[in-house]
Amino acid sequence: MCGIVGYVGSRDAAPLLMEGLARLEYRGYDSAGLAIHDGKEIGIRRAPGKLRVLSRLLERKPLSGTLGIGHTRWATHGRPSEENAHPHRAGRVVVVHNGILENHSELRQRLEKKGRRFTSQTDTEVFAHLIDEELGRKPLEEAVRRALRYVRGTYALAVLCADQPDRIVATKNASPLVVGLCQNENLVASDVPAILEHTRKFVFIEDGELALVQAGRVKIQTPDGKPVRRRSRHIGWSPLMAEKGGHKHFMHKEIHEQPRALADTLTGRVLRDSADVHLDSVKLRVRDLKNLSRIVIVACGTSWHAGLVGKFLIERFARIPVEVDLASEFRYRGPILSDRDLVVAISQSGETADTLAAVREARKLGARVLCICNVMDSGIPRTSDHVLYTHAGPEIGVASTKAFVTQMAALFLLAVRLGRARKTLSEKEARKQLAALAAAPEHIERILKNEPHIQEIARAFHTTKAFLFIARGINYPIALEGALKLKEISYIHAEGYPAGEMKHGPIALIEKDVAVVAVATKNSTYEKVLSNLSEVRARDGQVIAICNQRDKKIETYSPHLLPVPATLDTVEPLLTILPLQLLAYHIANFNGTDVDQPRNLAKSVTVE
Ligand code: M6R
Repeated sequence: MCGIVGYVGSRDAAPLLMEGLARLEYRGYDSAGLAIHDGKEIGIRRAPGKLRVLSRLLERKPLSGTLGIGHTRWATHGRPSEENAHPHRAGRVVVVHNGILENHSELRQRLEKKGRRFTSQTDTEVFAHLIDEELGRKPLEEAVRRALRYVRGTYALAVLCADQPDRIVATKNASPLVVGLCQNENLVASDVPAILEHTRKFVFIEDGELALVQAGRVKIQTPDGKPVRRRSRHIGWSPLMAEKGGHKHFMHKEIHEQPRALADTLTGRVLRDSADVHLDSVKLRVRDLKNLSRIVIVACGTSWHAGLVGKFLIERFARIPVEVDLASEFRYRGPILSDRDLVVAISQSGETADTLAAVREARKLGARVLCICNVMDSGIPRTSDHVLYTHAGPEIGVASTKAFVTQMAALFLLAVRLGRARKTLSEKEARKQLAALAAAPEHIERILKNEPHIQEIARAFHTTKAFLFIARGINYPIALEGALKLKEISYIHAEGYPAGEMKHGPIALIEKDVAVVAVATKNSTYEKVLSNLSEVRARDGQVIAICNQRDKKIETYSPHLLPVPATLDTVEPLLTILPLQLLAYHIANFNGTDVDQPRNLAKSVTVE
C-alpha cells in the first residue's frame, strides 16, 4: 500500500524523507508528497507520478526544517493527482495516512455541514479536519486521540501541527507502523526499510496505540492514554530482506498480506445493517441491474479463474446467466453482445493487452463494461464505464495471490448487490452470506498459522514430477488456480481438472509418481470427490487433500491433509486457495527457482 516516513531531530528533514520514500518505491505508488515544519509554519509539496517529479518541484520550491512527514500514495479514493496526494492540511493540522477510512462519506458530510471545506476526494482529508476540530489548545496527541473516536477503518497515520513544532503524533489500526529510535532524533515509518539506514532499533506500534515522537523522547500510550512500556527490537535485516518485510520472497509476503488485503476490499462496502453492499464508483441503477439479460466475464490467467468463481456466485445469488471468456479468445470469435449485457473485465494490473482489447470490443458492440481492478486509473479502468477496485495493495511477485483473493471478494460483493437489486437474494440469506464473507480474513489468518505443516508436505513432494489438481463446483476454479500457481513458479507440470472429468481422460495418468491434490471440503460434492480419491488410491496415486478441520473420514484417503475452517460453500474458495498457494510456494522454494520472477513470465502482459 502507501508509504509513510517521518523525522524529528536536528538534520534537514526533506532530503532524509525523500531517501526514505525512495526506499519504499519498489512497492509501487502513483503520487508523493512532503510536509516540513520550519519552526514557524508547515510547507507542503505534492506531485502526481514518480518521486523524481516531487524532487524537481523541491528544487524549484525548496522546503527546509528539521521536522517533517512524507508519503507515497497508491490511489484508492480519488485518482492520482496533486490535490489527492498526501499530506493533507486542515487548519493547523497536516496528516499522511495509509489504509482506508470506512465511514469517510458520512464524516465528510457532517464536517461540511459545519462549514469545513474539502479540497480533495480522499478519505484521508477527513482525518485532518477531525483532528483540527478537536485541537483547540490541546496537545496534538490529545486531539488525535479524540478524533479517532469517530473513525472506523484501517489506518496508519502521522500528524503534524503548525503550532506544536516539536512533535509527530502517529497511530495505527490494522496498517503497519514503526518508530525508529536514534540519538537525539527519531523517526516513524510504515515500513522498516524506509528508515533502516538510520537505525536498527525499532518499536512496533500495536493497533490503537498512539506514539508521541519528539527528538529526545518517544512516548507510547494505549487508546485511553495509559503509558505503554515496550522494549525496542533490534532488526538485523539486510536492505533487501527489509523490502520484503523479513520474508524471503515478495510472493510469501503477499500471501501473508491476504487477511489485510481482503479486509480492505470489504471495508466500507458490506452494509451489515441493511444486508446489502455499497459499491462505490459503480453507478449502475437498480433499474439497470434488473434489466440485465446476461453477464459476460472477460479476463486472463488468475483473473480468469476468479471470473469462474464469480460465475458461480452471480448465478447463485442473482439468477442471471453468466459466461466467462478468456480475454485472448473473446474478440476473435465475433462475440454477440447488446446493451442489456454487462461485461465484467477482471485484471490485477489493469494493463493486460488482451483484456483491454476485449473491453474495447465490448463497448464497441454496445455493452456496458464494469471492471474489477487493483491499479487505480490504469488502462482498463480508464476504458470501462464502471470500476470496482480491489484494495490488495501493490502486488510485486509475478504469481498473483492477494489480487486473486480480493478479486473473488469483489465478485462476491457484486453478486450480492445484483441479487438484492433483482430480489433473487433474500435479506436473511444476504445477511448470512455477508457474515460468512466478513469472517474470511480471520479464517485465512488461521490457515496461515498452519504453514509449517504445509511446508512439510511440500518437502515430501518437491521432487514429484507431475501433479493433478481436482475439485468440483465452486472449488473447480481453485483446482485450476492451484495448478497454475505450481507450474508458473516451480516449472513442475500441473493440470487442473473438474474432479468429475477425471474418468474421461486424466485418470490414465495416475500412477505412484503422480500426486493428486484434491479440494475435499464438506460441501454438497464432498462424497463425490471422495469417490474420485478412491479411484486415485486404487491406482497407487498419492493424494494431498484440502479438507475441513477434524474430518476423520478423509484420513483414510490420505495422510497428507491441509485443513481449512468450515464455512459456507460460497466463501470456501477464499480459504481453499491458501494452502495451495503455500504448497506451490514451498515446493518452488525447495527447488530453488526464482519465485518472484519466474522464467519467461512478466507481471503485466501488455502485448498480445
Ligand atoms: O493483471 P492481470 O490480472 O490482467 O493479469 C492476468 C494474468 O496475466 C495473470 O493473472 C497471470 O496469469 C499471473 N501470472 C498468474 O499468477
